[in-house]
Amino acid sequence: MKQQNILIIGQGAREHALCQALAQSPSVAKLWASPGNPGIAELATLAPIQGVQEWVNLADEIQALTIVGPEVPLADGIIDALTTRGLLAVGPSQAGAKLESSKIYAKSVMTELAIPTARSQTVQSVEQLHRVVEREWSLPFVVKEDGLAQGKGVTVITEPAQWQDFLRRSPLSSGPFVVEEYLEGREVSVEVLTNGHQYVWLPTAADHKRLTADPKSPNTGGMGAYSPVPWLSDAECRIIDQRVLEPLVGFLSRNGIDYRGVLYVGLMMTAAGPYVLEFNARFGDPEAQVILPLIADDLYEWFSELAQGRLLKPQIALTGQKAVGLVLASDGYPEQPRVGRAIDIGRRVSGARIYYAGTTVVDGRLQSSGGRVLTTVGVGDDFDHARTIAYRQMAEIRLDGGMFRQDIAINLANHG
Ligand code: AMP
Ligand code: GLY
Repeated sequence: MKQQNILIIGQGAREHALCQALAQSPSVAKLWASPGNPGIAELATLAPIQGVQEWVNLADEIQALTIVGPEVPLADGIIDALTTRGLLAVGPSQAGAKLESSKIYAKSVMTELAIPTARSQTVQSVEQLHRVVEREWSLPFVVKEDGLAQGKGVTVITEPAQWQDFLRRSPLSSGPFVVEEYLEGREVSVEVLTNGHQYVWLPTAADHKRLTADPKSPNTGGMGAYSPVPWLSDAECRIIDQRVLEPLVGFLSRNGIDYRGVLYVGLMMTAAGPYVLEFNARFGDPEAQVILPLIADDLYEWFSELAQGRLLKPQIALTGQKAVGLVLASDGYPEQPRVGRAIDIGRRVSGARIYYAGTTVVDGRLQSSGGRVLTTVGVGDDFDHARTIAYRQMAEIRLDGGMFRQDIAINLANHG
């Protein structure tokens, strides 16, 4: 069988989960990751480099199929650069990644396609935002920075003090912004693999975005997730297909936007149906950590076809199991994570997976080096089982000041 070298770009738990899924494929010759992390190092050869040109040169040298985890290199055009060199890659072109890298652009596409989303207004500066809000908006509302902001660019404003605080903290030079209506409901992440013309659904997932169970606690990159989402009905999925995915993929196809990767739609399920909060041009993190273990197909085969503009099959084969993931975060996350603290992984719980993120090895010892340190994942035939495994594994791990949420995927057992 012909084997292929693979290069995974990124250094989080999402990329660790991707490496683990690909390491199982008999078609993968050698796995590389860049920059990677100490967990990924157990599965792949790490290249300690950063930057689009450096990565393209490495992919060329090792003739790899490249899979890009994070949004920044996608927004910087890494896929265009790889494709120009004649290399295989999974991810959208820069034009496709703009669905994530500019909220203003995403909103304009949604408006053009009549995709349900919160009513919004675009402003260029903090002064204009101030004027528009005082004149036209009442609480609650949401302010979003236009560009990529690693989960920090969205401020939900429900009280006057939060608005005053937002204005105090925002430099006059900042902007543009989107200000939008506050939506109430439950959030869901729908991710599909698309070649820019057709798409297949990955298992649905739900992320816990707040730092704690308190809905007023800070927004984070994600503190835990579960998959699939038992409370999302088939009828709701059909609406998401018809109102969001079909028009959006049709738009990519009509406009010749090269998109061979993951398209992520963040939705609020409101009383009036699904509303789109955001698009991402990549796998979610921590969603990937709970979605990938549920795929029964050889992931390499999907990626290899996708890189060549094709879908492997009309549907992805799944194991039928459930997965729950818990994020271990550093003390002070998300504002000012305290790093450089020793991590003791403890006993490995049978059936649990540990995906590393903000970790490094100093003098042979594992230490924290970022806000989100790792994800523990439990996979089982029901959510209770999956959750128990994930929490048992988390209980083994020691990180001074480390915190994780106690309420991930609770009250789901009755739904299967
Ligand atoms: P986004 O990056 O646009 O998904 O926003 C990050 C988080 O902010 C979302 O996951 C929601 O929890 C929250 N959020 C964003 N937009 C809204 C909205 N219009 N109404 C309520 N919450 C929102
Ligand atoms: N978990 C949300 C994201 O990856 O953007």
